[in-house]
Amino acid sequence: MNIIDHFSLNGKVAVVTGGAGYIGSAVAKALGLAGATVLVCDLKNYDEVSSNLRTKGIKSLGYYIDVSKPEVVEIISDKIKKKYEKLDILVNCAGGNLPEATTSREKSFFDLPLQEIEKVVSLNFFGGAVIPCMIFGKLISKNSDGGSIVNISSLASIRPLTRVVAYSAAKAAVNNFTQWLAVHIAMNFSPKIRVNAIAPGFFISSQNRFLLIDQNGYLTERGEKIINNIPMGRFGATEDIMGTVLWLVSNASQYVTGTVIPVDGGFSAYTGV
Ligand SMILES: NC(=O)c1ccc[n+]([C@@H]2O[C@H](COP(=O)([O-])OP(=O)(O)OC[C@H]3O[C@@H](n4cnc5c(N)ncnc54)[C@H](O)[C@@H]3O)[C@@H](O)[C@H]2O)c1
Repeated sequence: MNIIDHFSLNGKVAVVTGGAGYIGSAVAKALGLAGATVLVCDLKNYDEVSSNLRTKGIKSLGYYIDVSKPEVVEIISDKIKKKYEKLDILVNCAGGNLPEATTSREKSFFDLPLQEIEKVVSLNFFGGAVIPCMIFGKLISKNSDGGSIVNISSLASIRPLTRVVAYSAAKAAVNNFTQWLAVHIAMNFSPKIRVNAIAPGFFISSQNRFLLIDQNGYLTERGEKIINNIPMGRFGATEDIMGTVLWLVSNASQYVTGTVIPVDGGFSAYTGV
């Protein structure tokens, strides 16, 4: 047995939601480099990212998707079914926080507009996990070779972070749902279909830059606090997440389901002492 072959995704078809984002585009590249056909699904920039992958010799197409709208996700799922006759892998990267649902010195929890909290829960829990798992997951459930679903959660799901109330709660729901679905699918459909989550720590992207870096490019007070609590002493980079995703979607993790793996430089293990 060649253990490296267990990581190969040759012949696999993969959907990456939020596939044009900071983490999603790195995930798409990792899956493509391992041999998968990668379908980059996003609200924007999906064509740009998929054509960039094609220049690297990766089989890829881009699709407009709004993960919050089941009817739109259904259309893409039908297209994939017609074109590829199967789906093997789903990585849910769509998600993020909103400044309007974030507390500050001026705005406490009691002042947050409920509709902004609902928007963040809707994007991260329903759009970020439930809806694509229901629609693309159904396609995977019919795959006799098995399959793998990975939800991109957050460290905020394990230990709620100050200020991002709705985001932390929604990602905690994603973890619970991931475990529930892993059990449901293994017991009712196929033990060869696995569902896991990754909980990234701090990666600087458009959604959290305002919290970590100030207008002059320096760390904010919060950014500095965070760095001091990361044992590895740095924020994450996209390469830090690629190997974990590859492991979870490939046969290399064939006995792993219902887990939430932190990729956080040790942040969640550190008590601060
Ligand atoms: N950046 C971090 O530090 C960090 C940490 C922990 C978890 N995460 C999670 O990782 C995932 C990716 O985040 P990122 O940092 O790459 O952010 P990002 O903003 O770069 O990527 C998010 C992508 O999701 C897409 N998207 C948003 N709403 C959508 C919708 N309704 N339908 C389809 N696509 C939609 C956006 O267009 C964007 O391309 C998110 O779920 C985020 O919560 C990020």
